Amino acid sequence: RRFFKLIIKELEQIKEKLDEGYYPQWVVTDPKVYKLEQEKVFGKTWQFLGHESELKEGGSYITRMMVDDPILLMKNRKGEIKAFLNSCSHRGTRLCTEDYGNKKAHTCPYHGWTFNLDGELIGIVAGNKVYGEKMDKSEWGLRPVPRVESYQGMIFGNLDPNAMSLEDYLGDMKFYFDIMLGRSDGGMEVRGVPQRWIAKANWKMTAENFAADPYHVQTTHRSATEMELTPSDPLYASYGHQVVLQNGHGINVITSATGESANKYQGMPEDMWPMFERNLNEQQIEVFSKVTNFVGGVFPNLSFLSSGSGSEGVKHNHLNWRVWRPIAPDKIEIWVWYMIDKALPEEYKEKSYKGFLATFGAAGTLEQDDTENWARIIEASSGSMSRDRKLSYNNMANYLMGFDNVERDENFPGPGEAYPTCYTDHIARSMHKYWLELLTKESGGED
Ligand code: FES
Ligand code: FE
Repeated sequence: RRFFKLIIKELEQIKEKLDEGYYPQWVVTDPKVYKLEQEKVFGKTWQFLGHESELKEGGSYITRMMVDDPILLMKNRKGEIKAFLNSCSHRGTRLCTEDYGNKKAHTCPYHGWTFNLDGELIGIVAGNKVYGEKMDKSEWGLRPVPRVESYQGMIFGNLDPNAMSLEDYLGDMKFYFDIMLGRSDGGMEVRGVPQRWIAKANWKMTAENFAADPYHVQTTHRSATEMELTPSDPLYASYGHQVVLQNGHGINVITSATGESANKYQGMPEDMWPMFERNLNEQQIEVFSKVTNFVGGVFPNLSFLSSGSGSEGVKHNHLNWRVWRPIAPDKIEIWVWYMIDKALPEEYKEKSYKGFLATFGAAGTLEQDDTENWARIIEASSGSMSRDRKLSYNNMANYLMGFDNVERDENFPGPGEAYPTCYTDHIARSMHKYWLELLTKESGGED
């Protein structure tokens, strides 16, 4: 605790530096900071677990991770989705070992205790013969995730029973969730299973890359431009608006240079347009009809990319969600879900899915570009020079872009603090600032 107090003192000073546009590199991968963020960030905020379409009927289940906690999500016969620690109440081994499936009940592989779809203990091997009268089965159900709530089919869990509601936490991000997830009758569906792989990276830098950094696109993804998949204009990912939202969230609403998209409604079939216009409000339509790509993040570690086509002729949009699950200060597990409107024709879905796999799937070209740079941040931030804690300007990363040359645009139709370019550090600063605020917050009751 005393040690944490010292770190918290340092973090207070970093807050001030960040307001000036400087952010020390050591803080990103520091092991003590990592420990502190487990408790103060991941112990307190809403974390994405999955989409309702992944649990089709009673008995469907999926297994997930909330940082280090294995989680079992099940749909019961009433259609309710429940989430538990995936750990047997007998000796604590992992209860369900599969990624997904359908079962009437889950039997533990160790001694055979059985739990129903509500997490209640319903069967003990040799039952009364081995336990006396005293043991009350109702006390030995699975341990529920303290809070589970959904918005637009997106299921989140929270370890803090006193956390604000998911809807309050998302705040104005709901406006953009409605566009990406609520535009079509029947909603969205996850296609395939989430892909996942381990990468050398810190979760904050990957989250920042999606939420706040279209500036990297022209350089990191230059090969896409050379193949004529993306425009050669070096400012092409800057057009549109960067929108700072509450609680460290943010979204880039990227358009083409004209402020419109080459393909209205991200190139989705014209017979769907009246449906969008029925399901969304006027401001949402104004944003959605012009956007090429949405790219952003829900703090702490959920990111999304809703990609329309970058050029004429490529007409298959796709939406992917990703969780950057921290494993260590310098290691993450990347989870990527692909989602598509249920209402789209099968042929469109298949083409769009292939487009996603080729770009942002585990083996996708653009994904590989990013992963390289994230690993190099770790490599270059681990030596004694970058771990030097002096808060001098040449010892820190640069968060100055857009602060003395970009004014807020009050006319942007969506909620949030909008800036008329995506090449700015406004979301990045707000995200790290929120992170610092959580880390330095008194938790009360602890010494
Ligand atoms: Fe599950 Fe013993 S650990 S039945
Ligand atoms: Fe990228």
